[in-house]
Amino acid sequence: MKKVLIINGPNLNMLGKRPKEHYGSLTLDEINQKIVEENQGYFDLDFFQSNSEGEIITKLQEAIAYDGILINPAAYTHTSVAIRDALELCTGIKLEIHLSKVDEREDFRRINLVRDVCDKCFQGLHENSYIEALRYLKEVLG
Ligand code: DQA
Repeated sequence: MKKVLIINGPNLNMLGKRPKEHYGSLTLDEINQKIVEENQGYFDLDFFQSNSEGEIITKLQEAIAYDGILINPAAYTHTSVAIRDALELCTGIKLEIHLSKVDEREDFRRINLVRDVCDKCFQGLHENSYIEALRYLKEVLG
């Protein structure tokens, strides 16, 4: 089975309480459950959430050879050169995920430091951004 890591950055552990018009109404556990239901037996899935930039970087360094990485760096999308550099080292398919339409929100969210080191971005579909990204991964990994 192909190994896939799903990383969620700061404040995504608070989903369910965050503004629903941007992020939908599901908690992170509920989203992860949905992901497992759709992909059980197909991908070997690992889930990781952290509010700390350093922990995310360490996790990426450990996952350097995974077949696929879905990452929602949350606010670090717009600020973290270090997460960008760690992602650049990962050899698998890298998919940038956002629940909201991040490219169409405030100007500061249009600064994006990870886009150019990821293969594709899925955004604006709430929890379905993750679901669609995994469907895409199935296509490309075969
Ligand atoms: C987010 C968008 C980011 O701008 C924001 O800081 C988040 C979540 C999203 O999933 O839409 O925390 O990555």
